[in-house]
Amino acid sequence: MTEQGKAQLKLLTSGIPTLDSILGGGFPEYSSNLIAGDPGSGKTTLCHQILFANASPETPALYFTIVGEPPLKMLRYQQQFTFFDPAKVDRSIHFMNLNQEVLDSLDKALETIVGEVERRNPAFVVVDSFRSLTQATLRPSGPGQIDLQTFLQRLALDLTSRQATTFLVGEYASNEPRDYTLFTMADGILWLSQIVNRNSMVRKIQAIKMRGLDTQPGLHTFRITQDGVRIFPRMVKPIEIDLKVQPQRFLSTGVAGVDELLGGGFFPGSAMLVAGPAGSGKSSLAIQFLAEGVQRGEPGVLAMFEETPVKYLEQAKGFGLDLQQMADEHKLKLIYLRPLDLSVDETLHEIQAGVDEVRDADRCGRLDHDDGGKQRQLYGAAVQSPCGVLHDQRHHSAALRGDRQPAQTRGDGDQDAEPEAPDRYPHL
Ligand SMILES: Nc1ncnc2c1ncn2[C@@H]1O[C@H](COP(=O)(O)OP(=O)(O)O)[C@@H](O)[C@H]1O
Ligand SMILES: [Mg+2]
Repeated sequence: MTEQGKAQLKLLTSGIPTLDSILGGGFPEYSSNLIAGDPGSGKTTLCHQILFANASPETPALYFTIVGEPPLKMLRYQQQFTFFDPAKVDRSIHFMNLNQEVLDSLDKALETIVGEVERRNPAFVVVDSFRSLTQATLRPSGPGQIDLQTFLQRLALDLTSRQATTFLVGEYASNEPRDYTLFTMADGILWLSQIVNRNSMVRKIQAIKMRGLDTQPGLHTFRITQDGVRIFPRMVKPIEIDLKVQPQRFLSTGVAGVDELLGGGFFPGSAMLVAGPAGSGKSSLAIQFLAEGVQRGEPGVLAMFEETPVKYLEQAKGFGLDLQQMADEHKLKLIYLRPLDLSVDETLHEIQAGVDEVRDADRCGRLDHDDGGKQRQLYGAAVQSPCGVLHDQRHHSAALRGDRQPAQTRGDGDQDAEPEAPDRYPHL
């Protein structure tokens, strides 16, 4: 109980920090959850990730597989993931196949699940997937036998009454009618889906319900990689904008002529769209802008979409600028993204992670040199993209979505002190 006399909800990690934040902190202990979605949407992978992050010999997990996915076959695939720890199998996570029992009758299946849960007293229970029982119910249930609905209700009721955090996994197409009793009983519902967007497949996850928690609503993009499920939450919280009036000053673009043309340079915190036909100098301007920042002691981020890093680095070398060296010295973060496979959310997360990385590296470097710990500000970020993204300043990024016109945008950082006048201007 808390000081106010209210029971405190203990939250368990999902093993995925971004999912924890979408859930509003994690899965409440002893909650019963439904993981729903299309076949192949990642339900099994997500459940495994949750268990490997939580189960231990003291808090073991019981994982039931039903028709069609025997544990041996499932584990053969699942052990490819980096989170998979073979040492936990049979010691912390117990897998059980219900094929035979289910083929006999649903009563038998229920009896077996309840019996095993009773016997092992697990802290976590997964039933993957209860929907495959539909096949078993195609046969008419015998006299006195329960039907699927009753089976599910009894199962959910039994699991919710235990001191275990449970996950029922079910295959549901997005437009399929939902089992309302089950959906009502569940404390949490996560919905996974795969959406085809312009010939690319994008995975989405949604926390439809999570009792007692302030979830981040909406569809969040995720990806399955060797490390399992990786989620890129929507930027639902508005990016804080510093509304204080900035001192009137300019940041050099890195090109004397352009500074002059702009009346001094870019405003700190502004988003610039650099557009023009192929070969007109857009990338060159971006390179010089970033190099200018590095020269002033302000790190930058370069996100490349259409041109490969090799080509970009070659181009910079032509100006006598070694971007790779700047990257090696953590003064510049190079990010190569494939636009066809990426959602806007994922793009923003990659870029934001890049911004955080150069800042962290920069802060460490500063502390190492013991210069009073004053952190250099991010000078700028240049994004080369078919769908222009980004503006960045000290409050990170905001996104602009453009059309297919090759475009380049950049933003820049804000500094407490006026930058010194540059002593070198590379030329376009
Ligand atoms: N190493 C991997 N890298 C990328 N994607 C993978 C990897 N392993 C599995 N996947 C993807 O995960 C999908 C399977 O997810 P799974 O959790 O079994 O789905 P579900 O249980 O919802 O049917 C595969 O179809 C594949 O697209
Ligand atoms: Mg599965």
